[in-house]
Amino acid sequence: MNIIKLDAIGSTNVYLKNLLANLNLENFTVVVADNQTAGKGQRGALWTSEPSSNLTFSVLVKDLLLGIESIYDLNVAVSLSVFNAIKNLGIEGLSIKWPNDILADNKKIGGILIENIIKSNGEIFSVVGIGINVNQGNFGELAQATSLVNVFGKEFDREILMNGVLKQLQYYFNSLRNDHKIGVWQEYHNNLYRISIPSAFELPSGERFMGIIQNVSQQGTLVVLLESGKIEEFYIKEVKMLY
Ligand code: BTN
Repeated sequence: MNIIKLDAIGSTNVYLKNLLANLNLENFTVVVADNQTAGKGQRGALWTSEPSSNLTFSVLVKDLLLGIESIYDLNVAVSLSVFNAIKNLGIEGLSIKWPNDILADNKKIGGILIENIIKSNGEIFSVVGIGINVNQGNFGELAQATSLVNVFGKEFDREILMNGVLKQLQYYFNSLRNDHKIGVWQEYHNNLYRISIPSAFELPSGERFMGIIQNVSQQGTLVVLLESGKIEEFYIKEVKMLY
């Protein structure tokens, strides 16, 4: 496995995408940074991380997705990989908040940003960015963030944790390749935050409403039963879950 270790970089996702534009990188190339100074989060947000405290890395996936209709399979596999690598440390009360936040006791402990590059021949290359809060104890104004040190009261070795995630990624990618997609999706739904429980949501307009998550569709939309009895599907930018 090709692992590139950096002391400091803006974003491991951006670095890996730039490398990919210039080199023929081997599948599963990993870029890990001790300090990420301009980390990218979902929805254009920043991913801030205290230097030398957390895990920030990106993995190149070249051979998994056969078409854009299966793009969300990768998200499901990556979410479960991060979820299980953290769970294996002995944490209870973990969940996956749609589409891919990893929560510990309702607070965010891990985030995932997948950027797909669709080549002219139809091939899909994905840069899978993973951030896990490990040894950072204080998150300032980010009241909804937590870390392993906050949950366990002790520090963790970041490299061991990264190897745990990489192992899980290989396991779930193989499961998808070997036609175990239904089981992988079932596991995702089993661990989905607030599935089947009345929950609050917010639209981009600021309007709030209550609904009950039914499932996540193959396209990655959140399927919600509204109070009116109507079922509605939302794409990632169309709704936010309040928690
Ligand atoms: C989120 O908003 O939840 C996604 C956060 C993803 C952060 C990781 S850290 C490593 C990789 N490089 C980035 O710039 N972002 C991802």
